[in-house]
Amino acid sequence: MSAAEYTIVSATVADVRALAEHWRREVVDNGRDGLWFSPYDPNEDARPVSDERIAHITAAIQRPLTEPLWQRVWVLRRTDKPELVLGSLSLYGGRLASELHRCGLGMGIEPEHRGRRNGTAMVTTALEWARSVETLAWVDLGVFDGNHRARALYERAGFVLVGERRDAFRVRDVRITDLSMTLDLGRR
Ligand SMILES: CC(C)(COP(=O)(O)OP(=O)(O)OC[C@H]1O[C@@H](n2cnc3c(N)ncnc32)[C@H](O)[C@@H]1OP(=O)(O)O)[C@@H](O)C(=O)NCCC(=O)NCCS
Repeated sequence: MSAAEYTIVSATVADVRALAEHWRREVVDNGRDGLWFSPYDPNEDARPVSDERIAHITAAIQRPLTEPLWQRVWVLRRTDKPELVLGSLSLYGGRLASELHRCGLGMGIEPEHRGRRNGTAMVTTALEWARSVETLAWVDLGVFDGNHRARALYERAGFVLVGERRDAFRVRDVRITDLSMTLDLGRR
């Protein structure tokens, strides 16, 4: 399957339910074949998609970038399955007004759609947007130390390692080291 069969668009309110369902499938996949990429227990924290959750996401993606807890999401779809969200990348603001010059990044793609340069394309799209937002100066993320593919992708996009938190999460008794990476958007 060629990359041309995939689309990446900025999520709107109409995408929120499919997005929430994608995130739920993503949690269930965490830890499969030893690949831990999320701090949620695949059994216990696979939250059903409630109306409250839909409302929470809907509010976040509409929140102005000048307010804490804003979120913007890019969704990956395949043209022959337009009803499904197969991957997503989120940029999000922190809890405090004084940290709104930074944003966090989180992403995931469902297993059968990985390794097709979709992740690279999503990062490129989201960072192009971040560079166009004058108020943003830094993008931060955390990646687990065994997740070599994700780390390599972020390094290629320009993220640099700025820290390491050993034993950051314990999921099913697995002690996870979280690596902190940051991208300087070059604002001075
Ligand atoms: C990480 C993830 C988003 C990357 O997206 P993707 O579409 O699979 O990535 P791409 O195909 O764009 O690029 C993968 C690159 O990693 C390389 N790669 C694959 N396995 C690798 C490994 N074990 N070590 C280093 N590099 C690896 C590929 O060769 C490719 O490089 P290339 O573009 O130079 O060929 C996706 O694999 C995913 O969702 N994984 C599970 C969830 C996850 O880890 N999310 C990130 C949490 S921080």
